[in-house]
Amino acid sequence: MITPVKIRANQLTIVAATVSACILLFTFFKIAPHSPSAASSISTQIPLFTAPPVRNGLKVAYASFLSTRVTNESEYDPYFTASRVLAYQLLHHPVTKTRDNIPLLILVPPHVSEHKRKILASEGAQIVPVDLLLPDTPWLSPATDRYDDQFTKLRLFGLEQYDRILYVDNDMLLTRCLDPIFDEPAVMEVQTTGADPASIESDEAPLPSTYLFTGVSDTGGGDHPFPPVEGDDINGGFFLLRPDRALLAYYKSVLNIPNRFPSVFMEQSMLTYAHRRDGNMPWRAFEMGKWNTNWPNEKDVEGGTATLHDKFWDSLNKDWIDRKPVEMWWRMQGQMEGFWQGKRE
Ligand SMILES: *[C@@H]1O[C@H](CO)[C@@H](O)[C@H](O)[C@H]1NC(C)=O
Repeated sequence: MITPVKIRANQLTIVAATVSACILLFTFFKIAPHSPSAASSISTQIPLFTAPPVRNGLKVAYASFLSTRVTNESEYDPYFTASRVLAYQLLHHPVTKTRDNIPLLILVPPHVSEHKRKILASEGAQIVPVDLLLPDTPWLSPATDRYDDQFTKLRLFGLEQYDRILYVDNDMLLTRCLDPIFDEPAVMEVQTTGADPASIESDEAPLPSTYLFTGVSDTGGGDHPFPPVEGDDINGGFFLLRPDRALLAYYKSVLNIPNRFPSVFMEQSMLTYAHRRDGNMPWRAFEMGKWNTNWPNEKDVEGGTATLHDKFWDSLNKDWIDRKPVEMWWRMQGQMEGFWQGKRE
């Protein structure tokens, strides 16, 4: 059902997005005639852009992932807009931006248009072209088509030029600066892999001898208390990793074994399996409600959670999601558009 409110909001957004995209394109070609690497040169070779800042002796970065399948450039593309809002919050917003010049990498698979890459790059993100990551033989059955490309975000584990990366889904609202997350003990201290033979599967690649994976659990719904109660399942939208090609090789070996993990929730189910709590590489959780909450509500906002994870723009969520974070997200999007209009006109 399309409500009148939805039509109005979408039309406004389409007009705003089209106008700003035209302005941006014009500005880009006017001031930046060089063209970044062409789509045809996309490979698994990852460029290192600028030397990443060193914090506590570690090279650190933020990262996100855009895999939109909207190819008509004049069509409203909420995930592209969400990536722009995220980049604005991490790099430019006076309250939430990085104080330490920590870069934002955005992974993009080959089907994301050059036009969208250029806009994100012109707004400060570092575009990292990557190939899709899929099992050698198809066996996955994701809950929705939207999850098809989600394993691709694991390519972050191959970026060994960084010591720590905070991965953040693009449907995220920030309430404060995230830089201090890199000072958390659960981010600095590397874990030693266990050796319980009962947890070693002979058809999987060997585990690395050390690892680091710190995340948040799924809160299970919008009516959770504050702080939310920690569960055993990893939420794939917010996690801190130490890039390690041996760990990526392990994940790929798991991905290539049909039904080794339930595939409905794709990469987050695989991560929950690989880092199961009774296995040899158990995951660690951030303190609940401190850095991130999924299914957020007003109590999370009042409790000071740094990032709130949801598709705030989606009117299908309107009957259950708390209005407060929704209204905050729309204000953040408007602030982002106003910021770039001021810079570019
Ligand atoms: C692209 O989207 C616009 C806006 O929705 C629409 O008017 C146009 O017909 C579409 N073009 C194509 C080729 O589908």
